[in-house]
This record gives sequence, C-alpha cells and structure tokens, in this order.
Amino acid sequence: MSISNHIRSFRAGISTLAIFFTILSIGSTHAAAPLPTWARHGMVVSAHPLASQAGLDVLKAGGNAVDAAVATAFALGVVEGYSSGIGGGSFTLLHLANRWETIVVDGREEAPGAARSDMYVDNTTGKVNPELSTTGILAGAVPGHLAALNLLLERYGSMTLGQVLEPAILLADSGFELSQTYARSLALQKDKLKRFPSTFAVFFHPDSTPLGLGERLYQHDLAQTYRILADEGDKAFYRGEIARRIVAAMKADSGLITMHDLTAYKPRLRKPVVGSYRGYSIYSMPPPSSGGVHLIQMLNILERFDLKYLGLNSSETIHLEAEAMKRAFADRAVFMGDPAFTSVPVTGLTSKTYADSLARNISRFRTSKITGPGNPWAFVPEGTPTLPSISTEAGDSSAEKDRHTTHLSVVDRWGNLVAMTATINTGFGSGYVIPGTGILLNNEMDDFSSAPGVENFFGLVGSDANAIAPHKRPLSSMTPTLVFYQGRPFMVVGSPGGPRIITTVLEVISNVIDHGLDIQEAIDAPRAHHQWKPDKLFLEDGIPFDVQENLFRYGHDVSTGGNWSGAQCILIDLETGLLYGGTDSRQEGAAKGY
Ligand code: DON
Repeated sequence: MSISNHIRSFRAGISTLAIFFTILSIGSTHAAAPLPTWARHGMVVSAHPLASQAGLDVLKAGGNAVDAAVATAFALGVVEGYSSGIGGGSFTLLHLANRWETIVVDGREEAPGAARSDMYVDNTTGKVNPELSTTGILAGAVPGHLAALNLLLERYGSMTLGQVLEPAILLADSGFELSQTYARSLALQKDKLKRFPSTFAVFFHPDSTPLGLGERLYQHDLAQTYRILADEGDKAFYRGEIARRIVAAMKADSGLITMHDLTAYKPRLRKPVVGSYRGYSIYSMPPPSSGGVHLIQMLNILERFDLKYLGLNSSETIHLEAEAMKRAFADRAVFMGDPAFTSVPVTGLTSKTYADSLARNISRFRTSKITGPGNPWAFVPEGTPTLPSISTEAGDSSAEKDRHTTHLSVVDRWGNLVAMTATINTGFGSGYVIPGTGILLNNEMDDFSSAPGVENFFGLVGSDANAIAPHKRPLSSMTPTLVFYQGRPFMVVGSPGGPRIITTVLEVISNVIDHGLDIQEAIDAPRAHHQWKPDKLFLEDGIPFDVQENLFRYGHDVSTGGNWSGAQCILIDLETGLLYGGTDSRQEGAAKGY
C-alpha cells in the first residue's frame, strides 16, 4: 500500500510541524522483544524448533559446529522442506577457531548442460513463459546442497553422514505436526503442488485437501533417501541409485538434468569477502552471491554517518540507510553474476574510498535520484579484468514471497562458528517431488534472467551478467555473515528474504553495533528496504507515522505494511563469552543452547 495519497492529505496541515517531528523521531522506535536465549557452551538457532533441537543434540553428544549445522540442515529439509533441502542449494561460512580461518562453501545450484539462454521463451509467442522457470521439472537446476554438506562434514566435521542424518530420518519417518507457517505455505501453494502426482502423494489427503495446522506429515520416501545416503554417501545422489531416479524423472517428464550434470557438480571453496564497520570485522558471502559485497559496501557508506546519535529507526537513520541501499543495488544490477562467467569488481565495490565517493553525494535531508551504477572499477588495482556485462533489477516482492529460504547459525564449545543459508528458492521450489525419493526439486533457474527486461518471481530483471548458460550458477542474495571484534568472534548472522536478505543482515548488524540492542531486539526491530528499482522505500509495520511523513518529505516514495525476512542469529558476549541467540519473531524458529 502506498501511503503517498494518505500523507498528502495530512501534509499541508502538518508541514510546519515537520521540523518538530524530525526532532521527536530521534530516539528508539522498536517494539518490546522477548529476551534472547542464553547458553554457556554451544548454541543452534534455526527456523524450526525440531531442527534446532537436532543440532543441539549433536553438540551435546560431542559433535562440533559443522556436525551440528549439517544435522540441523538435514532436519530443516524435513520439517521446513518448503524452504530448503537436498533438492536445492546453500552457502556456508565456517570459522575454524584453532586455525583462525574462515572457509566459504558454495553449494549453489548450477544450470544443466543443456540449458540455454532462451529456454523459457515460448517458440510460438516469442515471449518468456514465467511458469516454466518457476513450476515443474524444467525450473530445477542441478542441486548442490548435499554435496556442500558432505564436503563440510568430511573436511571439518567429526561425525559420519549416518550420525548426522539420524534425527532427520526419525523426523521424516515418525512425522511431525505442521506449524502455522508450514500449513499456511502449503495452503498458498496447493494449486501448484496438486499438479504433480508424486507431490500430491506427500502433502495431500485423498480428498485433495492439503494437510493442515497440527496434522502430522510423514515423509517415508525422504526417510528412505536419507537412509541410502547414510549407507552409501553423497555419491548415491550424484552418481548412484538416487541419481538414476533423478535422471529417470527427467526423461519421463522432459527435464534437462543428466547423469553427466550430476557427476560433474562440485561444491566450490571460496574466500570470504572481508570488510570492517566501526572497528568490527565483517566476513561474508562472495559471488555468486551479491550479498556479502553489498553488505560491506552499505556498511562502508553508513560508517560515514553517526547513526548512534541519529537513533534507531529515526527518520534520518532510515533515510541514510535507504540512500546506501539504493547506491548498492544500482551497482548490483550491473556488476554482479557468477564469477566463473563474469568479472566482478569486488575490490572496488568493497573499498572504503569508493564508499567515500558514494557517501559524498548523499544529502542528509533529501533523497537523490540514482540513475545508474557508480564506478567501482576506478577503485580496483590495475590488471584486474574489465566490465563484462549488464543486468538490471526491478520490481516488487510481497511479504508472501519473502520467507522460503532458511538460515541457521551455530557456535560450538571450541568457538567454531557456522552461518549457513539454504534454499530451494520459492515456496516448495518447483513443486515437483522426484518420484520415489521424497526430494522437492528447486526452482533456482528463476534466479537467472530469462530474457532482457523480463521480471522473475521476485520482480528482478536482467541481461547478460545473469543470463542462463550451461553450468552457470544463478546470482543470489543470500548473505551468511560472521562478525569479529579484535580477533574475537562476535556475531553469526543470516536470513531468508530474497533481495531483502541483504538489507535485513545490514540492519541486524547496525542495530547491535550502532544502537546497542541485544540480538533479539536487533532482529525484531521494524525493518526498512530499498532496492533501487522499484524506486520505493518499503517500511515494515511498526515504523511510526511521523517517521513515514518525514521520509516522504525527504522525497522517498514510501510504501508501508507487512513484514519480511527471518533472521536467525547468535551474539557472543565479548566479556563473558556467553552465547545469546535471537530467533525472528516473524517466524516460528528457536534458539537452543546448553
Ligand atoms: O538465492 C537467492 O537470492 C534466492 N533464491 C533466495 C530466495 C529467498 O530468499 C526466498 N524467500 N524468502
């Protein structure tokens, strides 16, 4: 809902008071939040209590953060299967305390070898058929989550695949009660899901009604798939029995993924993008995510302003955040893509001097018109390859679209940290369960640009940088992030939310560092989001009307209502070492520690 008209009618009468509103709105505007969960030794925070419990049990049994994260991820694939699972992909940041090293595992899906840039263009009409990239078998990219989990476990875990799969197998076999979020998501997606007999068999009653709140969901095929993985390892999925089922489904239902695509899939180890904010070190996800780069870019810009003085969610603070967001998203639209296919000016985008140049033309009380990207290449040392291609982003995304990905955070008693964001993209992914496996196939192909100027599910449009190509990874916004202070771990952060992931992570970090909120308050505080296109400033419920009015007066096209994202975070007290977990009140997750 746009508030412009509403505001206009008030405007004449109150414009003389606006200066007072500016003054009054400096200060705290956050609702009361529950106290964070605290623990001494280890903690798991995820979007579902049963998944957090699975991870906690692993920690208590002597497992490390990797063991717990992988167990939690497998459990989430059962109890929150509409958001993530082995039919999808993930990004993980792992901090190893004993080596003081941060590892990045890129388990992003990959386009099949037979994928083509115009594969979703209808031959007869010449137009993109958005249905094809979002629903059904053709929407699925080669899954990477399992390979990434397996790599993490083999290299950095202490338990076997069988051990960490155990809780998930139990949950899939014995069933669990559908939560409100799950039941609502299933009801919303029922028409998409009903079309596929293998999916219908899992989620519907024989009379065609979907399972409802509190009903038990049993996933025996998924349990069996997990058992095969426990016995045979991830090779069963990428070249063995499960691979054969995937390929048979592709043949039967005209999908593209081949045995070669599966055997060729490799998770990639990457270096984190690293930045700093007011003395804290920020480690985050590099391309093919846009998340870490733009998080650091926005923090660099905001560091130039005294947000602490201006106050949490005051008009000026939100205005400055929006200005930073606009500049970052304008760059995102042009420079970001799979680094194996496109050169990304990471050094320039994350440099302090580039941020200075962007911050310099921000007006304190007036929004600026951003017509295109900045010039981060000017801040890249010589010898780095030059700009390859363009993609632009536009459109809206409603709150309903915003919670179909998942983030989990883990800290163990040795001080190892895991931030993992996993997804099958939109709710229930492609909606297609691979027959006989219980695996929901992702629809991550929709994160590519299907054709220049054509919007995807999230209202994103693009061209070359993010065009479909064989074995290319689609551009993501997922932003698993670790924060350190003088070498000591301080925060583990992440969220779902499509493009709003990046701004959510930014706000949680600023709410703690600038405004001194505890981790639960930092997560629950109302959010603002701007993604350059559309040129709209989105405000969650809870931002006071006087602040809305001021932002309108500064020139923003303000849009209010609803809420988005679902941050699951841990803060480590720098003095005591105690762990504080925050789980987003917008979801039904849990922070569990011991
Ligand atoms: O990788 C991405 O950026 C998207 N596939 C994430 C989707 C998402 O967060 C959906 N909902 N909350």
